Amino acid sequence: MKLLDGKSLADQLMDDIRERAEQLKPVLGVILVGENPASLSYVKNKKTACERAGVEYREFRYPDTMTQEELLKKIDELNADEEVNGFIVQLPLPDHIEVPQVIRAIDPKKDVDGFHAYNLGKMFLSPEFEDLPPATPLGIVKLLDHYDIPIQGQEVVVVGHSNHVGKPISTMMLNRNATVTTCHIYTKDLAEHTRCADILIVAVGKINLITTDMVKEGVVIADVGINRREDGTLCGDVDFEEVSKKASYISPVPGGVGPMTVAALILNTVRATERQKSANDG
Ligand code: GUN
Repeated sequence: MKLLDGKSLADQLMDDIRERAEQLKPVLGVILVGENPASLSYVKNKKTACERAGVEYREFRYPDTMTQEELLKKIDELNADEEVNGFIVQLPLPDHIEVPQVIRAIDPKKDVDGFHAYNLGKMFLSPEFEDLPPATPLGIVKLLDHYDIPIQGQEVVVVGHSNHVGKPISTMMLNRNATVTTCHIYTKDLAEHTRCADILIVAVGKINLITTDMVKEGVVIADVGINRREDGTLCGDVDFEEVSKKASYISPVPGGVGPMTVAALILNTVRATERQKSANDG
């Protein structure tokens, strides 16, 4: 078994970006509403990655009493701010704020999370139109590519059908000519599908959802889950200890897909900046 080491690849990608960033001077904005502990930890990782890559990081923090109207006003302000090349609104948001309305308000050119319907829709066309794909799926593709794992013609099984991970990674795998099965909470017999997988991508958020009897020998696994055990340590959705004995490659949690998601956000920020600057030159 080999590890899909997202942490070292993400560090390498950040170091590679540095030179480009010195000329481009990209600026990433992060809007954070409230004090969700997981969100605080994620945005800290984003800040650290920006520093490593030479991308300027600007954080805008608000209490969880912020109204939707106030948030939409801030988004409009960042849409118009020529200094900010890309920005994200960290999720989850407090219950009184409607996430679809918030995402819709972001200028697609600055939507470096790749959550806007415009960017998601473009992905359906072909890999060439994956301009700003969602960060986690982009990170997974970069990770598989780095380890020269073939995708074309492979049986790819995705577990989870969220708008931000399951659906877009299924699309990106289909764009690369895999045979894709997307499983979810209503799938009748999950194991029947996962056992067929050459590549298994799991994004549910449930400890030990995937056990060793559910995979075939030699499977490649990207574990997107980030769960906290009772003792406070982190783990994914896959029973790593046992399943790793059967897998040819598996991403650990932490240190696998998580750092690649952050790296992909930075890649999207650089890409958005390049597009904006070349549009201005032209
Ligand atoms: N919350 C957890 N992951 C993410 C992410 O990738 N982007 C945003 N905006 N919020 C998140």
